[in-house]
Amino acid sequence: MRAPKGMLDVLPPESARWTELVARFAARAERFGYGLLLTPIVEHYEVFQRVGETTDIVRKEMYEFVDRGGRRLALRPEGTAPVVRAFVEHRPVTPWKVWYLAPNFRAERPQAGRYRQHWQLGAEVIGVDDPDIDVEVIDLLHGFYRELGLRDVQLLLNSMGDAESRDRYRAVLLEHWRAHAALLGDEMERAEANPLRLLDSKRPDWQDMLATAPNIGSYLSDASASHFAHVQAGLSQLGIAHVNTPRLVRGFDYYTSTVFEFAAGALDAAQNAIGGGGRYDRLAEEMGGPAAPSIGFGSGIERVLLACDAEGVLPAPSARVDAFVVDLVGTPDAALVLSELREAGIAADRAYGGRSARRQFGAADRSGALWAVVIGARESEQGLVAVRDLRSGEQVEVKRKEVAAWLAAKKDEAPR
Ligand code: HAM
Repeated sequence: MRAPKGMLDVLPPESARWTELVARFAARAERFGYGLLLTPIVEHYEVFQRVGETTDIVRKEMYEFVDRGGRRLALRPEGTAPVVRAFVEHRPVTPWKVWYLAPNFRAERPQAGRYRQHWQLGAEVIGVDDPDIDVEVIDLLHGFYRELGLRDVQLLLNSMGDAESRDRYRAVLLEHWRAHAALLGDEMERAEANPLRLLDSKRPDWQDMLATAPNIGSYLSDASASHFAHVQAGLSQLGIAHVNTPRLVRGFDYYTSTVFEFAAGALDAAQNAIGGGGRYDRLAEEMGGPAAPSIGFGSGIERVLLACDAEGVLPAPSARVDAFVVDLVGTPDAALVLSELREAGIAADRAYGGRSARRQFGAADRSGALWAVVIGARESEQGLVAVRDLRSGEQVEVKRKEVAAWLAAKKDEAPR
């Protein structure tokens, strides 16, 4: 038996990094005034239709199925459409600021940093068109990476304009593709369906054609240009460096106006996007809700951790517990001491099944514990336990009844 292709198990101690990552993101998002939103892993197929009828993610990579009641459902390939579906369904007061943690499913060709199930941390703000919120959302993600200790991360920024800007741009772009129809071959069909889709292609033989393609920046309406200028000024004010990237169009059909991506310099170009997002000002209306201009992002946990590995930050913790109880006499005291330690806030464990002293100390070492709490025959008779510092080997005797409080104080003194 194996996990499905392209889907990963996350075992301890690696999973402790996940806990840490999620806790830091949650704390930061809550500090910015965002609340956690939980939505189902499956949605009605239609929820994702507007995400990208011209994208591979929806056309070819979605896990769809018909349930026992004959409903057409899909495993979520991304996080934004479910949030907007929930907004349209519940009509919360705007601005609606939410964050989420969720697995996403895309039947892509698995490779390093690209999986069929990946997890995203994300945030969305529904119902605000003020460019200040674009800056806030980008700052939320930018600061998260900085707090993790990542330094080699570049923010790529672009504006896809409003509908008017995009219509004008699409027309000139399509002219450009038609002039290269021979080179495009079968891809001309995709170009006709959505001319923007080809812009971020990495195909080496297309790079000359892409380099000479017209830039969206020249086709922005006054309103779009002014919004974009405001976002850039706001980022600069906060000291958030960004690179204007006219060919950044992002992979979903719902994007409008501001789009952005964070690229990790330490990762391969094919999977260096550790997070990305943008505005989707019309999606709520398109899904049958009120007009609600919105913006958000998603950041792939697996990729963020790959970037952390590459930069040597956020290592997996070496210790599973603080203390390990070693029982040399087999009295019921071991269970009691263990319980008291845990209730006092000390992470603690023990061996089971009457192991030898050598085995128990071996297990204590493997647990990474700083202290062994040893219950020996003589100490036990006197109501004492021995606390051994497993790094220095120093040992002291402490009253059994006081050991939990004693170690709790020690732990505060020497935080790891
Ligand atoms: P996305 O760019 O498709 O955007 O995905 C967001 C992030 O998820 C990527 O930057 C990457 O870190 C990670 N990711 C995507 N696909 C994979 C994969 N196959 N394996 C590993 N990691 C992956 C969205 O999903 C949008 N919903 C983001 C958004 C939110 N836009 C507005 N609001």
